Amino acid sequence: MSEIENKTENGAGERTAGEPKDDKGLGLGVIFFMVAFLVCFLSGWLLFPKLLYSKHEQPFNFDHKLHTEETGDCESCHFLREDGTFSGIPDLESCMECHTDEPMGETEDEAIFAEEYVAKEKEVPWFVYSRQPDCVYFSHAAHLLGENAAGKMDCKTCHGPIGESTKSRPYEENRITGYSRDIWGKNIWGFKKNSWDRMKMDDCADCHVEMDGHKGYCFQCHK
Ligand code: HEC
Ligand code: HEC
Ligand code: HEC
Ligand code: HEC
Ligand code: HEC
Repeated sequence: MSEIENKTENGAGERTAGEPKDDKGLGLGVIFFMVAFLVCFLSGWLLFPKLLYSKHEQPFNFDHKLHTEETGDCESCHFLREDGTFSGIPDLESCMECHTDEPMGETEDEAIFAEEYVAKEKEVPWFVYSRQPDCVYFSHAAHLLGENAAGKMDCKTCHGPIGESTKSRPYEENRITGYSRDIWGKNIWGFKKNSWDRMKMDDCADCHVEMDGHKGYCFQCHK
């Protein structure tokens, strides 16, 4: 701001001194252009992603690190059933092996959980970060039990470090497509640093090509 003012004063001062109008005007133009460009660039870079996604907080914080230490492993809550289906997110009943409507600790999150869900026997309406559209068929068993070297894939490969977190992050929904940000892509310009940054059709297929040599047929992933 002060730089622009200085320039204007200089410009005015020099003109009264009788010098020809040189490219000072052009210099100002360039400065204005740069400022305008910066404003647009920053609003596109910082604001657009904020506007593109609506944020939803989980009903209360779930501390994965604490609970994995309590139970000893992930499988006590997320496991494959005998018939090959995946248990997904544990239901209220499995939480109640330890929790009652009397909180064990002091935290507000546990108080909400005890009052609003355990006492009322109401299932917790979790947002699922990795939720695919209904037309997609996904089987955890195919990825966790595979006979070839590809089997026993790490949860982290597709989900990132959720299992190690102490804080639930908000669920972000793309306002245009309705997809979760975990699927549509963490980075709106399409850069991908980690295997879990995006899980669109091509991301599934890229790994299948790498592991199996072919993308797979439409009917494998679509119902
Ligand atoms: C193996 C026993 C066990 C199971 C099963 C269990 N919890 Fe916990 N949970 C604990 C313990 C122990 C604490 C720590 C209490 C304290 O603060 O001292 C805790 C704390 C919490 C807290 C408060 C943590 C914080 O950071 O504020 C919440 C919320 C919670 N549990 C929710 C759940 C939910 C939801 C389930 C079911 C999906 C569940 N728990 C299953 C043992 C368990
Ligand atoms: C006490 C039960 C419990 C244990 C143990 C547990 N989880 Fe969870 N997990 C949950 C609950 C409840 C949620 C839903 C809330 C949330 O997303 O944080 C969840 C959500 C998840 C999700 C998010 C799925 C999605 O797309 O929304 C992943 C990934 C996950 N857990 C992985 C793990 C891993 C890996 C471990 C072991 C390191 C683990 N969990 C241990 C209860 C548990
Ligand atoms: C990081 C690697 C990887 C990613 C990411 C991945 N897959 Fe797979 N998937 C595999 C491998 C490897 C197999 C084959 C397992 C085997 O042959 O035993 C497989 C098998 C499958 C199968 C079973 C095919 C059959 O004929 O039995 C389906 C369906 C599938 N994947 C769907 C998906 C979908 C949908 C996504 C994305 C949301 C996805 N996969 C992401 C590695 C991956
Ligand atoms: C190959 C990628 C891949 C791997 C490996 C994987 N997941 Fe998933 N997971 C997914 C996809 C895709 C979905 C969404 C499925 C849907 O929307 O139908 C999902 C959904 C989930 C959910 C939510 C289920 C629900 O419907 O509520 C949980 C919890 C979860 N995964 C936990 C795990 C855990 C724990 C592991 C490791 C033992 C694991 N996942 C390994 C891709 C994967
Ligand atoms: C490896 C698994 C996989 C295979 C194989 C696959 N798809 Fe998909 N497809 C997905 C996933 C995951 C999505 C959702 C994410 C997205 O839109 O990219 C999707 C989304 C789509 C959509 C958009 C649907 C919507 O509601 O937005 C269409 C259309 C589609 N697939 C068609 C096909 C056709 C046609 C083929 C065969 C040439 C095929 N797919 C093969 C995994 C797969």
